[in-house]
Amino acid sequence: MQIPKELLKPRKVKLSKVIVRKSKVHGTGVFAAKNLKKGERIIEYVGDIVTKKQSDKVAEEQLEKSANHTKDGGVYIFELNKRYDINGNVSWNSAKYINHSCEPNCETEGDDWHIWITALRDIKKGEELGYDYCYDIDNWQEHPCRCGSKSCVGFIIDEKLRGKVRKQLKENN
Ligand SMILES: C[S@@+](CC[C@H](N)C(=O)[O-])C[C@H]1O[C@@H](n2cnc3c(N)ncnc32)[C@H](O)[C@@H]1O
Ligand SMILES: [Zn+2]
Repeated sequence: MQIPKELLKPRKVKLSKVIVRKSKVHGTGVFAAKNLKKGERIIEYVGDIVTKKQSDKVAEEQLEKSANHTKDGGVYIFELNKRYDINGNVSWNSAKYINHSCEPNCETEGDDWHIWITALRDIKKGEELGYDYCYDIDNWQEHPCRCGSKSCVGFIIDEKLRGKVRKQLKENN
């Protein structure tokens, strides 16, 4: 499985559909620059294509930075295929600023070499874009969520696991 040549260089991504600016949820966020239709591909999540081994190392470093609350903290690794991941922590990837939401208006979809952020429903100009980061249950307390949606459990976690967290929170009270 060879990386296609055109994906080896930084790629300019069309930004006509989004605006990157300060978010009330966290740091920088991404907002709809115009009304968007359900199912529409909004922006491609680009970055360096790295092997699984490289991406484990990068993820570890990124986690360490985010634990230390440095400005560029956050994990920007996305699984591409069996051999490769994308490290989205590059200056030309605006999609890296999309925050998590427990009631997301976007989702990610991809093929072997690309990942897109797609609208889950019609989105109004000015709305912040968000998708479910689908974080695992491990260390869930370390990822507080400030998405502000009704179904938010207060932590960034895969929708399927939110019931477990709710139960644990009840037991702790
Ligand atoms: C890929 S970054 C997203 C962009 C980020 N807002 C920034 O300014 O770099 C992921 C990090 O943003 C923060 N984040 C994303 N969604 C969040 C949410 N709903 N509530 C709280 N923090 C969030 C977490 O620190 C997470 O590790
Ligand atoms: Zn939330």
